[in-house]
Amino acid sequence: MSRVEVGKLVKQFGAVRAVDEVSFDVPEGGITTMLGPSGCGKTTILRCIAGLETATSGDIVIGSRPVFSSGRDLVPVEARNLGMVFQSYAIWPHMTIAHNVAYGLKVRGRPREEIEKRVRAALELVRLPGYGERYPGQLSGGQMQRVVLARAIAYDPELLLLDEPLANLDAHLREEMRQELKRIQRETGMTMVAVTHDQSEALALSDQIMVMSAGRVLQRGRPEDIFHRPRTAEVARFLGATNTLSAQRVDGRLMIEGIGAVPNHAQATSADRAQVLFRPSDVVLQPENTGEGWPGRIVFAQFLGREVQYLIRCGDRNITAEVSGRDGVLEEGAPVSIGVRPGALLVYPEAA
Ligand SMILES: Nc1ncnc2c1ncn2[C@@H]1O[C@H](COP(=O)(O)OP(=O)(O)OP(=O)(O)O)[C@@H](O)[C@H]1O
Ligand SMILES: [Mg+2]
Repeated sequence: MSRVEVGKLVKQFGAVRAVDEVSFDVPEGGITTMLGPSGCGKTTILRCIAGLETATSGDIVIGSRPVFSSGRDLVPVEARNLGMVFQSYAIWPHMTIAHNVAYGLKVRGRPREEIEKRVRAALELVRLPGYGERYPGQLSGGQMQRVVLARAIAYDPELLLLDEPLANLDAHLREEMRQELKRIQRETGMTMVAVTHDQSEALALSDQIMVMSAGRVLQRGRPEDIFHRPRTAEVARFLGATNTLSAQRVDGRLMIEGIGAVPNHAQATSADRAQVLFRPSDVVLQPENTGEGWPGRIVFAQFLGREVQYLIRCGDRNITAEVSGRDGVLEEGAPVSIGVRPGALLVYPEAA
């Protein structure tokens, strides 16, 4: 059963097609994230689902209710029963935390006892019990983020929309709130649609990821599938496979020009030309030119603690590698053999 169904959604802003025939569904009771670079249409899709933006064409169904069809909004924002969390807090500084959290309930005219009960429950859910009488200025950034969340879920929305909800938190709090969001989703069973441009956030949070580019969905699936089996080179690059080499078939084997053969385990394509991609963390380095793998020379080494990052000259290309920092640091200028973990080499046929 799907909580949200979006069919062939288009949103045109003048000449800009911000959303270009996007179709997807969001299963009930999980976290779906839209992952993509700035300007690819993530916020616009979220705003169309919310009813804050009227799409140009397509269909949107929430639960079993069509809310947008034939270029018209059928259900207004306030009747869509959604919670929304946006990047900017929009918390009223002159109101207590409890009053801020109660806001959506008051607007909906709920009785006082119910409001008090729900506010208390929401603050407990985000692990801020007893903070109701404080003012926003007396809270840390992470606590504020929890208040925003509490406010959005206090009235038990059927769908929670989150636009870069963790973007203005520092790295440590981000990770903590990521886990909290997931915990809250699991405890409430709520359906969430979140937007992020951070791949590790998307991987950590999601039951389903939609990788987007230029108003389109490039791939949609479980985090493990998206990460290990990106459908196109573009998706692979977006998920961290930043080393890209071109290969062409010579005597039946795919060869990377000036570097060497694509290993046998990755030869499973019949194309004459291919793009070969891999993640820096999947590079295996032998400290000498053993004759196996591709020969290269360390250009630059950067010790980062847990890992060492190398820039390696290989043929006329640069390759980035990240290997464990426990194995010591190879010197700049040192010759190396470059391998890629089996299964980690992503090969995409290219049109001739
Ligand atoms: N009100 C508007 N008027 C005109 N163009 C708009 C409007 N809102 C968005 N756009 C354009 O639509 C495209 C998609 O914008 P959107 O805000 O959805 O991107 P996004 O994926 O959320 O990006 P970011 O990660 O930077 O938030 C962009 O090219 C943007 O400039
Ligand atoms: Mg946005």
